[in-house]
Amino acid sequence: MRHFLSLKDFDRAEILEILQIARDLKSRKITRDLGGTLAMIFEKSSTRTRVSFEVGAVELGMHPLFLSSKDIQLGRGEPMKDTARVISRMVDMVMIRTFAHARLEEFAAHSAVPVINGLSDDFHPAQLMADYLTLQELGYDSDAVVAWVGDGNNMANSLLVLASKLGFELRIAAPQGYEIAANVREMCAKFADKSGAKISFTRDPKVAARGANVLITDVWTSMGQEEETAKRLKDFKGFCVDRDLMAIADSRAILLHCLPAHRGEEVSEETFEANADVIFAEAENRLHAQKGIMVWLHDQNKQGDK
Ligand code: CP
Ligand code: NVA
Repeated sequence: MRHFLSLKDFDRAEILEILQIARDLKSRKITRDLGGTLAMIFEKSSTRTRVSFEVGAVELGMHPLFLSSKDIQLGRGEPMKDTARVISRMVDMVMIRTFAHARLEEFAAHSAVPVINGLSDDFHPAQLMADYLTLQELGYDSDAVVAWVGDGNNMANSLLVLASKLGFELRIAAPQGYEIAANVREMCAKFADKSGAKISFTRDPKVAARGANVLITDVWTSMGQEEETAKRLKDFKGFCVDRDLMAIADSRAILLHCLPAHRGEEVSEETFEANADVIFAEAENRLHAQKGIMVWLHDQNKQGDK
């Protein structure tokens, strides 16, 4: 059974295949009617992930079922593995947004149907598919130089996996104490050896941004880290993507942001609004990319049944 938990489980050709399906669905070159039911389990808040998967499922002929952990027994402590064994007997695909990545893996290990990561503390691969789709549409290819400026969080991890698999240059700037975990770096170094991706790490946003074609940032305090907000505001000083940082990037450089954005923290109001067209195109691409993932998983697992 193929799941979509992290891009580490996918090779370059598969990632590009999902993106091709997303583009074909978006341009209406193809239409698909998958039927069945998509369960969407949320242990954290969401706007884009919920709406893109829910609307995407409807557009693919699936019935979406929104399950907030506040309302189901999972939120009262029913084990993930029991929840998986119950829900996966009744639906055809599951999307989960959760805390520890191990919870998602536990669900998948006990699920009779494909499981999609709608964000965990460690990875947000569905977002990265939308981000790369946006870059493809704007004409960027594996020659693009991408700079991450911010926390070594779920988004940074997923971007690092994507760059290492697809083979583009990625420079990661994170403050001391907020670097990408060593195990993720080591895993990606192996992927990069194979793909030829040039990966570098720095504590200086300017080193990452200099001449870059694409800058990407995200909130300094992710969901579940709210108690650290005051400390993080101090520790991330100097990591705001603003006019000065954009000025040392390529003259046509763009900024991507998965949203929600905290203006005045990781991005200035001015730089956010100057890049609003691309950022909201990126947000819309959640819909198309998520449809690509659902179709690919449906087809893969159907082939596996034969
Ligand atoms: N980017 C993203 O995943 O947004 P939501 O938290 O609103 O789903
Ligand atoms: N890093 C952020 C991403 C939100 C889409 C978080 O986990 O809260």
